[in-house]
Amino acid sequence: MRRPFVAGNWKMHGSRAENAQLIEALLLGLPAQPVAEIAVCPPFVYLWEVGRLLKSSSVVLGAQTVCAEPLGAFTGEVCAAMLKDVGCSYLIVGHSERRGIYKEDDALVARKFMSGQSAGLIPILCVGETLDERDSGATTAIVSRQLNAVLDLAGVGAFANAVVAYEPVWAIGTGKNATPQQAQEVHAHIRSAIAARDAKIAADLRILYGGSVKAANAREIFSMPDVDGGLIGGASLKADEFLKICAAAQVH
Ligand code: PGA
Repeated sequence: MRRPFVAGNWKMHGSRAENAQLIEALLLGLPAQPVAEIAVCPPFVYLWEVGRLLKSSSVVLGAQTVCAEPLGAFTGEVCAAMLKDVGCSYLIVGHSERRGIYKEDDALVARKFMSGQSAGLIPILCVGETLDERDSGATTAIVSRQLNAVLDLAGVGAFANAVVAYEPVWAIGTGKNATPQQAQEVHAHIRSAIAARDAKIAADLRILYGGSVKAANAREIFSMPDVDGGLIGGASLKADEFLKICAAAQVH
C-alpha cells in the first residue's frame, strides 16, 4: 500500500512573516495523523526557520533544488549535505522551471538526484512534456528519456527511496490541469517503465501529479489508481486550498 504524499512547492514566494502565518494555519487545520504525508518546500533561505516552525508536527521539509557537487568552491550554490543539516527530508530535482529556465539537462538532473540521495534526502524527480511534445505524440518518449537518465545513472534500486512527479509543463501555473485520464495514462507508463526493471519497486513507488492542482480538482485526479498525491505550486501558498488538497489524498 502506498501512503499518499502531498508536497507544496513554494517556488520563489514567501517572507518570514508570510511563512509563519501559512505554517500556523496549516498546523491548525491538519489532523494530528493526516492520511497523506505532507511536505512543504520553501526557498533555501527560509528552510531552517520553517523547519523550526514545523517541529513536533508531522509535516516535513523539502528543498526545491540542489548543487550536484557535494562540497567546495561553487559560489552561490547549496549542497545536499547542507539541506540535510537544516532538516530537509525531501529534495525536488528536475522541475521544469529548472530544466527550462536554467537549462538543466537530463544528465545534470540525474547527478542532482544522486547527490541528494547520497546525503540521505529523498529525491522527488519531476518529469513531463511541453505542449508541443504532447501535440506531436511524444509524451511517453519524453518521460521515458527523462526517467532513463536517472535509471541509467542511479539504477532502479534508487527508486526504492525516491518519488516521481509527473508534471506536464503546459499544466504548470496555467490553470489548465491534465484530465485525470491524461494523468493516469502517463503515471501508468512511468510505473510500467520502472516495473520493467523491478516490479516490487514499481508497485511501491509513489508517483505524484503536478500542474494546476487545486481544491476543486484534487480529489478527482488523486482518485486515479496510479496517482499517489500531488506536487502543488500556487495552491500550496493558500492554507485553506492546500488543506483541502491534503484532505483529498486517499490511500490506494
Ligand atoms: P502549479 O505548479 O500547481 O502552480 O501549477 C506545480 C509545480 O510547478 O510544481
